[in-house]
Amino acid sequence: MSTKFIQAFSNLKLNLEYSFSMSNSPAFNLYSADISKKAKQLLSKMTLDEKLGQLSQVCSPGAHIPDYLAESIRQGRISSVINEVDLNVNNALQRIAVEETRLGIPLLIGRDVIHGFKTIFPIPLGQAATWSPEIVEKGARIAAEESSKAGVNWTFAPMIDIARDPRWGRIAESLGEDPHLCSILGAAMVKGFQTDDLSSIGSIAACAKHFAGYGASESGRDYNTANIPENELRNVYLPPFHQAAKVGAASFMASFSDLNGVPATGNRWLLKQVLREEWNYQGVLVSDWESIKELQVHGLSANEKDSAYLAAKAGVDMEMASTCYIDNMAALIAEHQIDEAEVDQMVLNILQMKFALGLFENPFTDPQTLPELVNPSNRNAAKDAAQKSCVLLHNRSRFEQRPVLPIDRESTKRIAVIGPLANDGYEQLGTWIFDGEEKHSVTCLAGLEALANDSTGIVFEPVFANSRDRDTQHFDKALDLVNSADVAIVYLGEESILSGEAHSRANIDLPGAQPELIDYLSQSNTPIVLVVLAGRPLILESLLDKVDSILYAWHPGTMGGLAIAELLFGEASPSGKLPVSFPRVLGQIPIYYAQKNSGRPASEDKYVYIDDVPERAPQTSLGMAATHLDTHFSPLYPFGFGLSYARFEYHEVCISHSEIKLGSAFEVSLIVENKSDVDADEIVQLYIRDLVGSVTRPVKELKGFKRVTVKANSSVPVTFKMHTDDLAFYDICNQLNAESGDFLLGVGADSSLELNIPFKLVK
Ligand code: NOJ
Repeated sequence: MSTKFIQAFSNLKLNLEYSFSMSNSPAFNLYSADISKKAKQLLSKMTLDEKLGQLSQVCSPGAHIPDYLAESIRQGRISSVINEVDLNVNNALQRIAVEETRLGIPLLIGRDVIHGFKTIFPIPLGQAATWSPEIVEKGARIAAEESSKAGVNWTFAPMIDIARDPRWGRIAESLGEDPHLCSILGAAMVKGFQTDDLSSIGSIAACAKHFAGYGASESGRDYNTANIPENELRNVYLPPFHQAAKVGAASFMASFSDLNGVPATGNRWLLKQVLREEWNYQGVLVSDWESIKELQVHGLSANEKDSAYLAAKAGVDMEMASTCYIDNMAALIAEHQIDEAEVDQMVLNILQMKFALGLFENPFTDPQTLPELVNPSNRNAAKDAAQKSCVLLHNRSRFEQRPVLPIDRESTKRIAVIGPLANDGYEQLGTWIFDGEEKHSVTCLAGLEALANDSTGIVFEPVFANSRDRDTQHFDKALDLVNSADVAIVYLGEESILSGEAHSRANIDLPGAQPELIDYLSQSNTPIVLVVLAGRPLILESLLDKVDSILYAWHPGTMGGLAIAELLFGEASPSGKLPVSFPRVLGQIPIYYAQKNSGRPASEDKYVYIDDVPERAPQTSLGMAATHLDTHFSPLYPFGFGLSYARFEYHEVCISHSEIKLGSAFEVSLIVENKSDVDADEIVQLYIRDLVGSVTRPVKELKGFKRVTVKANSSVPVTFKMHTDDLAFYDICNQLNAESGDFLLGVGADSSLELNIPFKLVK
């Protein structure tokens, strides 16, 4: 082995291999024979009323247990309680369930623990920007331990809806636009919540949501209709769910949304045929909040009884929040519309999950058995996640050759800190922080103060009361501070409430008068570093020539301020990469890298800008390609993009075989060289294109990625172990197959790379 290789191997931080399988094989048995046996035995003792009670999840009314709730539990009418995080209440609820009911069946205690319980990690979209299954798994592990200390045993995450529309508020909660990335990270999150043993202390049941197609809500408006052709559904939207089923996610949640005319919660094709029959999924299928009742609002059913009928026939086991099942199921059975055997199957699914969680043996939580909340190790993990989630989008000084970032601590005597998000420990936490608390946050300002040299003066002006503020009265003061400083760091973006559920935006610029503030400050000769805290990609193009650097920090969570400061001062190099494309203008949406070629693909030479169109040009003279006249066809920043303080080069990319027999394995190997003086992580990405298919294939598809640490001025070898099954897709008959024929492959730093390695799949 050459010295170069030995050195490279020693520098490589080995990553746990997270593999992805698109194979047709059914999910493994979710539960052991013992668990199934115990569940069946218990079921055989249950009355119909007790069975129906197991289908029902109710919301906790709050700090004390009202008589009606205690009585309902005693009567066996409640299977699960959602949104209770007081440990004493949860233990008391469990006590009623196990000690004061005929059969002693414990409760599922559900809570949305989406990106942390008390120690808040970056929003899931930010976690996806780490491209690190290990970090995502760790975040979920900590969330599971912290929430189980409060008696929670079931979370409603991961959200693995493919999200290609940044107007949609829930893009914040997603893992981005790509099925492969989302599948790997979603599976890692499941593992983090559940571990390999769901019954172990500190493990909670995961829930893959929202099954399916919710991310394609028309115009990015939440809860809106989704129309997704079956082939696209299978190739783009379903793979992360199939992967979650394969890795043993204990539950799935049916989406609120209308999928091709049949709301998912009542969609028998989706829930019965695909999930239960094709994938052999044996876990619990829960509705979304009142989504059974809402079947009537959609216009799929005439009343709640019909809604209960449709959801039960589709295979939804548990009803969240509404009461269509408990109110109507007995009548539906009596009228022979629903067979009691169908209800038995629903109950069995739920009982198996309760057995698998070990709740029959250990229904109560002893907080002493779990680590302290927000302990130093959890905070450190949250900081690491936040630091690796930040994406450096732009780093070109308007004044000098040398980029502004990283900021040199020695020579920087004065820093102007500007913006409403600079010192706001709440807004940095992001959406879904039911249990997160501002008091634990390290703000951006505090992070800078902690890491700057003692002699550096830091002056601060928030300018606005919040991110939507239009009041310009503090602009002059801010400009004075910027003028007086060596560098200005401007923290802008969105408050948490501007993304997340039911918080979609039709315009995704910086809200309020923030763009005007950047305009105003750009008069100064002081370099400006823009740090964006936001729940979605924002439109940034018009800001590029007014600032010197842009660091995209998402909503980075509890430790965000320190993580960002470390990057600004160069204690670590930015290493996040975009999990979603950033549009130049709103009208490009939906824009994603894995687009189809079309019959008239856009390219540089076919692009004519609106101002250059000659008057009365003949209709066909402009190139007739899939372009807009008023913006470029590429995104502002492509999927996978992110700058570093290091400079990486890719060498010797090669594939083990140029002709690969279908059904066999192959390897892609390369060397990544760090040609700089700083140690840094790089996220190496492998893309392919299947040139001819029985259905058209995307121009690029991510098929592998690795986060590797490369020391300054050294190299690491990277190998992707692949199989032709990784190239399978749902074909013209909606069957999963890899098709023989010509392919192209490329490995590089983002999705704009050129695919220049040809290979063939042969029979
Ligand atoms: C509605 C949301 O769509 C879902 O994601 C969440 O888990 C439930 N509410 C429970 O809060």
